[in-house]
Order: sequence, then C-alpha cells, then structure tokens
Amino acid sequence: MSETLAIYGGKPAVDVSKVVNWPPINDIDEKMVLEALHQPSQARGPQNLAFEKEFAEWNGNKYALFTNSGTAALHMCLVGCGIGAGDHVLVTAYSWSSSATCILHHDAIPIFVDIDPETFLMDPDKIEAAITPRTKAIIVVQLHGLCNDMDKINAIAKKHNLKVIEDACQAHGATYKGRKAGTLGDCAAFSFNQNKCLCCGEGGMFVTDNEEIYNGAAKLWSFGETARPEQSRDYHAYALGWMYRNNEITAAYGRAQLTKYDYYFKTLRENGEYLLKNLVGTPNLLLPYAPEYAEHNWYNFNLRIDFDNMGITDPAEQVKFRNAVAAALQDEGIKASVWQRFILPEMTVFAAKNAYGMGYPWAIPGADEGVDYSLEKFPNALKYSRKHISLVQTLRAPNGLDIAEQVRQGIVKVFSNLDKIDPDRIQKILEDRRNSKK
Ligand SMILES: Cc1ncc(COP(=O)(O)O)c(C=O)c1O
Repeated sequence: MSETLAIYGGKPAVDVSKVVNWPPINDIDEKMVLEALHQPSQARGPQNLAFEKEFAEWNGNKYALFTNSGTAALHMCLVGCGIGAGDHVLVTAYSWSSSATCILHHDAIPIFVDIDPETFLMDPDKIEAAITPRTKAIIVVQLHGLCNDMDKINAIAKKHNLKVIEDACQAHGATYKGRKAGTLGDCAAFSFNQNKCLCCGEGGMFVTDNEEIYNGAAKLWSFGETARPEQSRDYHAYALGWMYRNNEITAAYGRAQLTKYDYYFKTLRENGEYLLKNLVGTPNLLLPYAPEYAEHNWYNFNLRIDFDNMGITDPAEQVKFRNAVAAALQDEGIKASVWQRFILPEMTVFAAKNAYGMGYPWAIPGADEGVDYSLEKFPNALKYSRKHISLVQTLRAPNGLDIAEQVRQGIVKVFSNLDKIDPDRIQKILEDRRNSKK
C-alpha cells in the first residue's frame, strides 16, 4: 500500500469497485414493490398495515404507525404524550435538528442538556439541573445507534413525573441491557430515510405500548381524525392534524428490507467490532465508546481526532483540520463525513428564539423563564462537534470484513500521516476539483 495519501495522488486504501452501494436491493425488494404497484390503490392499505404489524412484532411494541418521516413520528410522540404550548422538553444539545424542532412543532420549548464527552449522549448527571417547573418530558436520542443509560434516565423521569420519548431514528436493533431501542420509554420514533440501517427511501415509524399515547399520536398523524383511514371515518378534525401517513409502495419496500434486517445488523455489528478492536493504538485517534450495557448498531462509527494530544487548541483551526482529515479519508475510498457541524443551541431557529415569527413559541407568557441557550453551557457538545468524523455506509452489508479491513488500513494510513495533513493545500485541491466540474 502506497503511503502517499490518496488526496495527494497516492493509491486509495479501499478498492471502491468492490464496495456495494447502500441499501442492497434484490429480488425480494423487486417482487414486493411490484406487487404494491399493481394493487388497485397505492394509498395506505394492506402493505402499510402489514409493515406496522411486522415492525411492531420485530421490535417488541404493541402499537405502530407508519409515517412519511422520522420527524413526523417524533412530532407524534410529543402530541401522544400530551405536550402542549409553553411546556418544556429536555433534549440533548448535540443531535439532528428535528430531535428538537419536533418540540417547536407543538409550541413547546426545548431545554438543551450538554453531552457526556465519552458517550456523545445526553449527560444523565446534568438532567436534574435542567428540569424547570414547566418540564413535561425528556427526548432521549439513541445517537449513532448507542442507547443511553435508560435505567438512570427513567428513574429521574419517574421522580419528576416526566414522559420519556425515544428518538430511535438511528437505533434500529440497538439494545440496552438486552432490550431493544424503541421499547425503553413511553413511545419512540424511528426513521427509514436513505441513510438509515433500515431504509425505504423516506419514512418513519411511531411505536408505543400505551393506548392513550397511540390514540393521541394517531390523531395528529391523519388530519386530526380519531379513526384510522381503514376504519369508519367521520372526516371530522377533532384537533389540529397533519398528514403524516405514507404510501403502499414505500411500505412494501420497507417490509422487504425488514426481512433482511437481522442479516444487516449482524454484518454491521461484525464490521464495527472489527474496527473497534483493530484500530486500538492508532495515533491521535479516539475510538467510539462501547459500554457493557449496550449493543451498538454502529449506524455511525465515530472517529475523534485527539486535538488535546496534538496541541491544536484553536476551535477554528480544529474545524479546518478535521474537515481536511475527513476529505483525506474520503479519497482513501471511505465514506466519511462530518455528521453535524453545529450543536443544536447554535442553530438559528433556537438561538434567535423565533420559530413562528413574533418570537413564538418562546413568546408564550412565562414560557421563556429559565431558558438559556448560551453556548458556554454546552462545552462538551461544542468540543465534540469540532473533532468528530462519521463513517457510515461502507461498513454496511453486504460489505464484510474484507472491506472493513481495507477501511481500517485507510484510517491507519491517514492518522499515521496527520503531520502531512495541510488543510490549506487540501482545501485548494477540493476547490480545484469543484471548479473543474463547472
Ligand atoms: C437522530 C435523528 N432524529 C431524527 C431524524 C429525522 O428522521 P427523518 O429524516 O426520517 O425525518 C434523524 C434522521 O435524519 C436522526 O438522525
């Protein structure tokens, strides 16, 4: 293997012609999707009902509703749990935007909690200090496919009479003490967008075991009605509703992928564990946290650059250097990306405290009391957002240990040559490439 980095013209570590694109499609997908296409109707029908039943059985939930996104399912969780205008909802400071915009969707106020620097998840020891008299729920994001310490969080929630909503959008099949993500709180949301371990283009699933939460969520999901479309409807909007349903072709695709999910999960587990074990000792590389209590699904395998050891302290310099390392990894043939560049309290919709205009929902009388989004409160999230790089699809089935080994070689190659990473030079290379495509 050439030691010249691929971004400077060396041979890439990964033979990308051998890497299979995500998700793998075979005759099962083709047959099931075609069947749905030839049904008399492609609006919600038997495929949706079957997908909900099969997913609920697979995951161990009593109720499930198929949605057009994970974000829709998150909004349904809020409504099912009875969250309303001016309520406060705790959520991690580092996640996808809709882990927290779903709170705004129902006129409630997000209260951010800093992350633990090792798990990258909401720090459970900082939850109680963030609870206000208006707090009604905690959104627990099972980020990167790693479950939070749910016993600890559920105990705090019970003490303060809070609902626990799982954002399990990245956590299909991940477990906590043997129990699956999506069964660990009052209700949960999954995403099936293109990048997820279980995907069907776009889509999501709302799950719960609680009938009251299910009925509340279902109302929001379909025009504020109390009946499902397959039931006898009176077409009356009993509450403000959206149209969060999905269609038959997408449901059939999701069902087909679900039949293969146990194999996908096993493969991803093997590849992730292989990297975790065989990257130990790579210079200036911090590996992801894998606690005894949880089985990671390795949705995102996270690399962190050890800036403390390297003596790079300036935040802007860290970001520039990290982006150059991510570009170098990509040129080695590894699908590496920077997952979230901003922490949630930095995002304008929250920082400006104005989602709907005129300062709403923060302008609801009393709702903004004790709400402080000052960035100094989230040092761990800020630090993490500057130094992490995510590996996603290359580790997915059917890509096996042979590809994982090539990925390992690419990571070792880049991290052993960090002294050769010249952010300005790499930025220029990327710019020249972009310009040559114009
Ligand atoms: C943690 C998390 N929450 C929520 C979502 C939203 O899912 P969707 O894109 O299906 O709306 C995503 C994915 O984008 C996610 O990663």
